[in-house]
Amino acid sequence: MAKTTTSILLLCSLSFASLVSISTAEACSNYSFPSNQVFGSCIDLPVLQASLHWNYSQLTTKVHIAYRATQIPKGWIAWALNPMGRGMIGSQALVAFRHFNGSMIAYSTSITSYNPSMLPSELGIPVSDISAEYVDKQMIIFGVLGPLGNQTSFIHVWQGGSTVLENIPQVHPLSGENVESLGLINFMSS
Ligand SMILES: *[C@@H]1O[C@H](CO)[C@@H](O)[C@H](O)[C@H]1NC(C)=O
Ligand SMILES: *[C@@H]1O[C@H](CO)[C@@H](O)[C@H](O)[C@H]1NC(C)=O
Ligand SMILES: *[C@@H]1O[C@H](CO)[C@@H](O)[C@H](O)[C@H]1NC(C)=O
Ligand SMILES: *[C@@H]1O[C@H](CO)[C@@H](O)[C@H](O)[C@H]1NC(C)=O
Repeated sequence: MAKTTTSILLLCSLSFASLVSISTAEACSNYSFPSNQVFGSCIDLPVLQASLHWNYSQLTTKVHIAYRATQIPKGWIAWALNPMGRGMIGSQALVAFRHFNGSMIAYSTSITSYNPSMLPSELGIPVSDISAEYVDKQMIIFGVLGPLGNQTSFIHVWQGGSTVLENIPQVHPLSGENVESLGLINFMSS
């Protein structure tokens, strides 16, 4: 049952994503990052008030990303590539939230079940330079993924939740936008 649901969700969100990205393409490209980072490409994502910005290098096959989403200060955000081509399971995620000491923190976590630990773990994809900021009611995760080899098109998944307990992001809503937050991303496109 879970498998069927995932494929239906995937189809819906892929067609929805392509429609929405056309009508709102200008918004992310007008965004100025607080530390003046510049990214050549971006897409406004169809749900969860989120955008993905990136620079892809054909030479190194690395992608420098910034995932940005509106979130309350005590919430969390996450963005992931899923090279297995599925939804949540297999996601190679970057997560960010405000640590109870006051600092924004970000790290990688590999999602291997529907009840993931959300603790830091290594990814199947090389990842470096992970950091996070909270600016104007938005959380932003920065990071570099790759080398990605010859694959430039991936299923990506994004997520967010309102609660972090003991520095561990807690389960996100299981309906609405939180189950529509996946799509296809091609790093060679703008
Ligand atoms: C982006 O900026 C341009 C130039 O300032 C402006 O004309 C356009 O309306 C802006 N688009 C959005 C979606 O804010
Ligand atoms: C992205 O690429 C542009 C153009 O090459 C460059 O100016 C910019 O510094 C790069 N941004 C990051 C965050 O690497
Ligand atoms: C808060 O904790 C994180 C994770 O241990 C650490 O990286 C960061 O430097 C700490 N910040 C402060 C202000 O202590
Ligand atoms: C991508 O690389 C893999 C492994 O090196 C190879 O099997 C595959 O044929 C390549 N695909 C393309 C489209 O070049």
